[in-house]
Amino acid sequence: MLFYHPHLMDPVRINVPTPSRAYAVTIGGGALDRVGPMLDEIGTPARRFVVSSPLVWRLHGPQFARAVGGAEPILVPDGERFKQLSTVSRIYDALVRASADRASAIITFGGGVIGDMAGFAAASYLRGIALVHVPTTLLAQVDSAIGGKVGVNHPLGKNLIGAFYQPHAVIIDPLVLGTLSRREFRAGLYEVIKYGMTSSASLFARVARERKAIFARSEDALMPIITEACRIKGDIVAADEHEAGQRRILNFGHTAGHALEAITRFRRFRHGEAVGYGMLVAAELARARGALAEQDQQALADLIASLGPLPPIADLSASDMLEAMKHDKKVVAGRLHFVLPIAIGATTIVDDVKEGELRSALKSIGAGN
Ligand SMILES: NC(=O)c1ccc[n+]([C@@H]2O[C@H](COP(=O)([O-])OP(=O)(O)OC[C@H]3O[C@@H](n4cnc5c(N)ncnc54)[C@H](O)[C@@H]3O)[C@@H](O)[C@H]2O)c1
Ligand SMILES: [Zn+2]
Repeated sequence: MLFYHPHLMDPVRINVPTPSRAYAVTIGGGALDRVGPMLDEIGTPARRFVVSSPLVWRLHGPQFARAVGGAEPILVPDGERFKQLSTVSRIYDALVRASADRASAIITFGGGVIGDMAGFAAASYLRGIALVHVPTTLLAQVDSAIGGKVGVNHPLGKNLIGAFYQPHAVIIDPLVLGTLSRREFRAGLYEVIKYGMTSSASLFARVARERKAIFARSEDALMPIITEACRIKGDIVAADEHEAGQRRILNFGHTAGHALEAITRFRRFRHGEAVGYGMLVAAELARARGALAEQDQQALADLIASLGPLPPIADLSASDMLEAMKHDKKVVAGRLHFVLPIAIGATTIVDDVKEGELRSALKSIGAGN
C-alpha cells in the first residue's frame, strides 16, 4: 500500500428506486472534479443553473466551476433564518431573468438549507425542472440530499411549505467536508448515529470505533459511514417515499429534538445537536418501559458524549418542551407518535407515551421544570 492514493478509490453508487423517480447517489473522494462529465452521463439538460451560498462558493466554487466548464452561480444566503419563500423568490428571479426553460436544470451546491430551497425552486419553477444535488455538509450528504423532501419554513413553523421532489442524481464528495466547522460536522454525525440506532448496529459500532479518524475527516473513515447512511436512507425512501410507514423511523430522536429547537427559536442548537438530545430522551423512555436494555442505552449515551459537549438545557423547561411536542407534525389524530429504540439497530413506533413518562425522560437528560 505504499503508493496508495485515496482519490483513485472507485466511487460508490447507490441506486434509489423511488416510485416517482429512480436515481443514483454517487459517493467518492474527488467526485467534485467529475461533476461535469457525470451530469452529461445522466443526460442532465445542458442549461445548468448552480445554486449555492456565498460561503460555499468562496470555498469550493472555483473547483466546482472548473469541473463544469464555467458557472455563473445563483448565490443566496443559507442560514436557517433565510430558509423562506423570499429567498426562493430570488432564485425564481434569476431563472426568469435568464429565461430558464423546461430544458434547464438546477444543481444545488451547499448544505441542507440550499438543497431544500433550491430543490423547492426546481420542483415549482415551470412545474418542475431537473434537479441534481451536490451536498457540502455532512448532514446534507447523509440525510437531506436523499429522499426528495424540499421546502422552506413559515414564520410559524419549520418546513411547513414544501413538496416531495426527487432529484435526478446526488453527487457526494466527502473531501468538501474538510472545510466544515467542527460543530457543523458533529451536527451531521448525530444523524449518522441515528441511522446506526434505527437500522445498523455495525454503523453504530464503526462510528464509535473510528471516531478519531472520522473527526480527522480522512476519506477512508468518511467513505464507509456516508455510504452506509445513504444506503439506509435510500432503501427506506424507496420503500416508503411519502412517509406513510417505514420512513417514520427516521424521525427517531426528532420529536423531542424539534421541541428543543422550537422553544429556543432555532437559535441555540444545530438541528443535529437537538436530535442528539432527542435520541437520549427516546432511549430513556424505552428503557423505563423495559423495551431497551440499560447497556444499550448506556452505549448510546457514551457515544453521544464522546463526540463532545451539547449546548446546555438545564435552563429549559420540560413543560415548555411538552407543550411544543403537542404541535409536532408527528401528532396524528391527537396522538403523538414516538420512535423508540428496542436495541442498537432496531426500533418500534408507539403512540401511547404518557405525559408523565415523557416528563421524567426529559428531566433525566437534564431539562428543568
Ligand atoms: N430534506 C430533508 O430530507 C432534510 C433532512 C434533514 C435536514 N434538512 C434540512 O437541512 C437544513 C440543515 O442543513 P445543514 O445542516 O446542512 O445546514 P446549512 O445548509 O445551513 O449549512 C450549515 C453551514 O455550513 C456552511 N457550509 C456548507 N458547506 C460547507 C463546507 N463544505 N465548508 C464550510 N462550510 C460549509 C453553510 O454555509 C452554513 O453556514 C435544515 O433546514 C433542515 O430542515 C432537510
Ligand atoms: Zn434530522
